[in-house]
Amino acid sequence: MMSSSPYEPGRDPLSPNCNLAPITTELDAQSRLIVGGCQLSELAECYGTPLYVLDEATLRAACQSYRGALQRHYPGPSLPIYASKANSSLMMSSLVASEGFGLDVVSAGELLTALKGGVPGDCIVLHGNNKSDQELLLAYRNGVTIVADNQHDLDRLSQLVPVGADPAKLMLRFTPGIECHTHEYIRTGHLDSKFGFDPDQLESVLNQLLGCRWARLTGLHAHIGSQIFELEPHQDLADVMAGALQLARRLGHPVMDLNVGGGLGVRYVSSDDPPSIDNWVKVVAEAVNQACRSRNLDLPRLMCEPGRSLVAAAGVTLYRVGSRKTIPGLRTYLSVDGGMSDNPRPITYQSLYTACLADRPLASPDETITLVGKHCESGDVLLKDLALPYASSGDVLVVFATGAYNVSMSSNYNRIPRPAAVLVHSGHSELVQRREQPEDLLRYDVMPERFLALG
Ligand code: LLP
Repeated sequence: MMSSSPYEPGRDPLSPNCNLAPITTELDAQSRLIVGGCQLSELAECYGTPLYVLDEATLRAACQSYRGALQRHYPGPSLPIYASKANSSLMMSSLVASEGFGLDVVSAGELLTALKGGVPGDCIVLHGNNKSDQELLLAYRNGVTIVADNQHDLDRLSQLVPVGADPAKLMLRFTPGIECHTHEYIRTGHLDSKFGFDPDQLESVLNQLLGCRWARLTGLHAHIGSQIFELEPHQDLADVMAGALQLARRLGHPVMDLNVGGGLGVRYVSSDDPPSIDNWVKVVAEAVNQACRSRNLDLPRLMCEPGRSLVAAAGVTLYRVGSRKTIPGLRTYLSVDGGMSDNPRPITYQSLYTACLADRPLASPDETITLVGKHCESGDVLLKDLALPYASSGDVLVVFATGAYNVSMSSNYNRIPRPAAVLVHSGHSELVQRREQPEDLLRYDVMPERFLALG
């Protein structure tokens, strides 16, 4: 039986996405897991479970790796942007802004979280394939760059920007026609995608925008997908985008921003081996540099939009073990007090994770179990075939690399309240998201008066 301990001392602290666990992970004298100087089982005791834990040092290390790599490998100006869909909160907005990042948002909710978290409007870009008028206006009024995804965006904006007012800052998103190997739900670069203008439309859209008073085209955008371990698609993308930049400039748009999206993969299980942040940035930066130089183009400001690779490894989720069911000769189900509502990725994408017991991470496994959540759904399986020492009711179990697309995709299925989230740093923990209570879930229910009258 293989131990699935995520405790791997000596992996790459400069590239958190290459690690299973936060970079501050260590063991105390009793071999219990510590993250950010805080003992995980104590956090579970103090804040309750399930609990999302985010390690500040890991978050900052990832930000600094992106910034440093852009400065080292790209001779022109650059701006990294955090794709806040990976994990959006006031704290995250403030933290990435303090590391010199801009922010990518896709809704009024994410935009408000960025603005209230202290990110200046001119460092925010608004994405989305079906933006509402409310979202477009909120973005426009706060000086946010709007990434036009389709003709509908342009039609609405031309109506919404008041005559004679400042033009909206606009980027154009197009599908680059690049295939990559990742789950089909998180692939976006191929032509059959709901996102972005078809490349064949680009020239006519660029012509349409020439001389228009309500928008100023500042850049071009493309994104090929997520959880990508290959580097070639990003090189191909640089070339396609430089071609589009050349076209835009030739037609008369002084476009200065080239936004190559995000997509760098992370290590969820020990067999995952993604490129480092430095390597990813190097390949992208060199490809953009070369593609621009070969076309004699002044270097644009290079923007990239990492989400997962910035936050995944910084996060762990703590659960308490509850019931067990053994079907002799078949399987043992071990249940925890959360599941698909706080981590919908396994049921949605068949994603794999790594887990261990918080206080016995190095103990040899006694059994192989199927780790399940508490939701009324047979597919509510967090991990299949997990080798664990015998776990009793009340033991704290840690699932690793849950910082990205867990809380942001969480739900209240079965009216289960969302977990609390804490930030850990140098032995201190701070609440960054309060735990929902069952009563909170009734907040938006309305009982029709007619029903009350019936008693
Ligand atoms: N930029 C754009 C326009 C995007 O659509 C995305 C992700 C990103 C940047 C960030 O990509 P990342 O660096 O995180 O790969 N819920 C899925 C992932 C969906 C990704 C959506 N777009 C999951 O849990 O795997």
